[in-house]
Amino acid sequence: MSMAPPPPPSYEAPEQGRPAERWSSTMGFVLATAGSAVGLGNLWGFAYRASQGGGAAFVLLYLLIVLVVCLPVLVAEMVLGRSTGHSPLLAPLTAGGRRWAPLGWLYLLVAAGILAYYSVLMGWTGRSLLHALLESLPATMAEAEAYFGAISSGGDAVLGHLISLALTGVVVAAGIRSGIERLSRWGLPLLFLLLLGLAIWAAGLPGAREGYATFLLRWDASKLIDPTTIRNAFTQAFFSIGTGVGAILAYGTYLDRRSAIPAEAALVVGMDTAVALMAGCVTFPVVASFGLGAGVSGSTVGTLFIALPTGLASQGAIGRLVAGLFFALAFIAAITSSVSLLEVPVSSLIDRFGWSRGRAVWLCVAVIAVLGLPPALNVAALERMDAIFGGVLLLSGGLAMALLLGWQAPARFHADLLGSGSPPWLVGALLWALRWLAAPALGLGLAMSSFDLIGRGAG
Ligand code: TRP
Repeated sequence: MSMAPPPPPSYEAPEQGRPAERWSSTMGFVLATAGSAVGLGNLWGFAYRASQGGGAAFVLLYLLIVLVVCLPVLVAEMVLGRSTGHSPLLAPLTAGGRRWAPLGWLYLLVAAGILAYYSVLMGWTGRSLLHALLESLPATMAEAEAYFGAISSGGDAVLGHLISLALTGVVVAAGIRSGIERLSRWGLPLLFLLLLGLAIWAAGLPGAREGYATFLLRWDASKLIDPTTIRNAFTQAFFSIGTGVGAILAYGTYLDRRSAIPAEAALVVGMDTAVALMAGCVTFPVVASFGLGAGVSGSTVGTLFIALPTGLASQGAIGRLVAGLFFALAFIAAITSSVSLLEVPVSSLIDRFGWSRGRAVWLCVAVIAVLGLPPALNVAALERMDAIFGGVLLLSGGLAMALLLGWQAPARFHADLLGSGSPPWLVGALLWALRWLAAPALGLGLAMSSFDLIGRGAG
């Protein structure tokens, strides 16, 4: 890319402080970032939120937000990491000056808060996997609910949370290339294949059409302006892409100067959305064809853990195999995601205090283990943490990212992208989208989400 125009003079050349670690290739970065995006949010969150009544309106809003809001913010997040070379704690300060320093702390707090309950969900997933493989599937919804009640809180849930968090720590301690990248390189393709196989199997079920129709295709225009649907679409989009807490920012600091960020961001967003839709094409046919619909629309976070195994139980050995595959896949997807969340505080401690990776990892794991106790002991606490950390605070982090690169430091956005060979029209369009579409839409989405949440809390 020797033809790339030189950065404008208002831009300070990136400092020497860049970390020594690097992805082995651009593809390694894309896979790790897609691995971070594809997770329980796609397999479970998408179905859970789509079934809360939005139907096709939810799907449409979701796709729109992903394209118009998440994509520019994701590019901004990658640029912020690569151009500063600093961790999520210090990058806002480096790019925007002192006033932006608190944003670094917000990222740390939100990433730790999300990981605290995410690892509880991972624990449920792992427990359900063992159950499907070693014991049997529940025969009735009532049995499944009793079983889920037993594993989703108390000792089992705490144990699952601790084991999942420790596994995440092991991968992150192994480092960028030999830990995170290696895991995503085999995990992500495997997940794609498994999911494709399951979607084909589900398409042949007797109630498949009804499943697509009820949950994904049912059209109700009034849902487009329903506050709950809007909140669900915003939080699902940001949570699923995984932008807004600095996780991808951290990954961006290990990225080569020359790689083309917009193309990579588009690939990641495309893969993540494909997986979410594919997962919907597994879940809903299963739910409809085994008559589990009533349970699902009265949805709480646990529904899929209850409905899917129950539906599959009637299929004998094949059902058990499918359930085992589904939960194994979910666990792989979850761990390639949880590592990106842990990387936020870990890279920050390394960057700020010069700690070794191992020391930073185990200190963070210890703190997050404690933060995860309330959601492990109580499902309602988990839902509350999801609404706060994975909802309102995540959107605030995304809004701040859009303001920082769109309005406070647009020269940095320009220089980094032009310097890595992106065409000027594309950079201009992305910056415009960041300033005029992403930032206002996020402001509005955040306001509506807060109102909806407060309204629900009061009601
Ligand atoms: N995107 C992941 C999922 O869908 C979860 C995740 C990973 C995440 N990194 C994140 C969510 C950063 C918010 C912010 O399961």
